[in-house]
Amino acid sequence: MKVAKTIKSVRVAIKAARKAGRTIGLIPTMGALHRGHISLIERSGKHGDFVVVSIFVNPTQFGPKEDLAKYPRPLRKDLRICEDHGVDIVFVPDAKEMYRQEELTWVDVDKISEPLCGRFRPGHFRGVATVCVKLFNIVQPDIAYFGQKDAQQLAVIRRMVADLNFPLKIVGCPTVREADGLALSSRNRYLSLQQRKDATCIYSSLKIAREMIEAGRTNSKTIAAKIRKIITATKSLSSIDYISIVDAETLQDVSRVAGRVLIAIAARFGSTRLIDNLTVDCRTR
Ligand code: PAF
Repeated sequence: MKVAKTIKSVRVAIKAARKAGRTIGLIPTMGALHRGHISLIERSGKHGDFVVVSIFVNPTQFGPKEDLAKYPRPLRKDLRICEDHGVDIVFVPDAKEMYRQEELTWVDVDKISEPLCGRFRPGHFRGVATVCVKLFNIVQPDIAYFGQKDAQQLAVIRRMVADLNFPLKIVGCPTVREADGLALSSRNRYLSLQQRKDATCIYSSLKIAREMIEAGRTNSKTIAAKIRKIITATKSLSSIDYISIVDAETLQDVSRVAGRVLIAIAARFGSTRLIDNLTVDCRTR
């Protein structure tokens, strides 16, 4: 496994793989790798890709009061995980390598970036979209893999790739969960025992919402109110950013559930902000 710190060295290594006829698979990450990331790496490996993992805690997607400084950076452990899972190249640039000069060019994906997390994290998706374009231009992958847990991020990237005609396939992979349903996240490590226990209510409320829809309930307000009731009953909840039922593609609110909908939640336990979602396809009912 090669560890490349510079854009130049990662390009050289990938050029050789491409010349040898390999399909290039990219898994963009911010490190602190867990089984969710590993599932993306494995998916790429099974597809037969030349597997490139990027590890870069991207400063431009953090707000001024967010956790950039304390975001976990267990690089040695991450490299071991990559090595154990057959990654070919890990690209670990520092901030100076990725942002060599004052950034004057930004990528904004309108509309899809605005609701849900966009309302609570201004500039977040602009930072994500911009760094993904940079990574796509550096690595020039044939396929890039993203987790469905960050459903809005996945929708933003899909739309950006379509709008800007990137010759690239985006593959969304299922959320990986703990045995009790909590979605894996690098931020789960911030939770106290009580918060960790309480946080399982996010997924259980999502499942109940899905059951309501499957039983024929269509009023989004009623379904969201049920989720709210379950979540607010926990001790360590500090706030709810949103409980939203939206069209799975456009991410716009729906008052009546129909077609493919995304039920999405962002809530804070202590100071840790957790997100999760479920997609329900009413067309298959
Ligand atoms: O999902 C993440 O870890 C990040 O948002 C990403 C896609 C690597 C961009 O920095």
